[in-house]
Amino acid sequence: MRIILLGPPGAGKGTQAKVLAQELGVAHISTGDILRQNVKEATQLGKEAKDFMDRGLLVPDGLMSKMLQDRFAKSDVKQGFILDGYPRNIAQAKTLEEIFRLKGLDVDLVVYLDSSDSVIIQRLSGRLVCSKCSANYHITNMPPLRQGFCDKCGGSLYQRTDDKVETIKKRLEVYKNEVSDLIKYYSEENKLHRLSADGQAEEVLKEIVVLTKQ
Ligand code: AP5
Repeated sequence: MRIILLGPPGAGKGTQAKVLAQELGVAHISTGDILRQNVKEATQLGKEAKDFMDRGLLVPDGLMSKMLQDRFAKSDVKQGFILDGYPRNIAQAKTLEEIFRLKGLDVDLVVYLDSSDSVIIQRLSGRLVCSKCSANYHITNMPPLRQGFCDKCGGSLYQRTDDKVETIKKRLEVYKNEVSDLIKYYSEENKLHRLSADGQAEEVLKEIVVLTKQ
């Protein structure tokens, strides 16, 4: 199964993708996670991307294309994948299409997780992320069993630098500038399914699972 998850920051793309990837036995490709790993390791990509990320802006398409090509060169994508965080604009959608064409791949499903601004701000300003396995928590919606530590691996939890309210608003603005073109692009291919992501995570997951079986 090859799925693209679209949606605003905080809609729950990462939360859903992690569970779904395990259930379906496919790779979870999160461009945000790959970038954050590069920042942590201070790679050249990480150094070039960090400032854009901290300001809530998109990392330039050229850097993202190279990163994505490298990721799609790995063998695990043959089993299928859930792409979370890419594409973010039409140029990226076309890059993806070209990668798929060269690899003889096609997308089965594009799920657009929609969420309201107030829900997004509440979710992101309370999000905690595991420094080891990048599992997501929320101080009130999805608290860890032991405060400050990941239930899955025991890693310490931290708040992302781009989860400050001002940066969240910037990310939303950037997202809104690009999203309608992307929706149009995938609607024309008859692959787009729109879901409200404001409900409980388990309910949203059930709705996505139904789509994977159609
Ligand atoms: P990225 O990491 O992709 O961030 P994002 O798209 O802004 O999305 P988020 O990770 O913030 O949100 P999410 O939808 O995954 O929500 P989550 O599941 O965590 O990108 C970060 C930056 O990297 C970008 O700003 C950009 O600079 C750069 N970048 C990445 N990709 C790029 C690209 N393609 N091109 C250029 N630049 C790129 O959930 C959020 C919180 O809510 C969590 O606390 C979770 O526990 C909670 N939650 C989730 N679902 C529910 C629910 N249903 N009910 C209650 N709480 C919930």
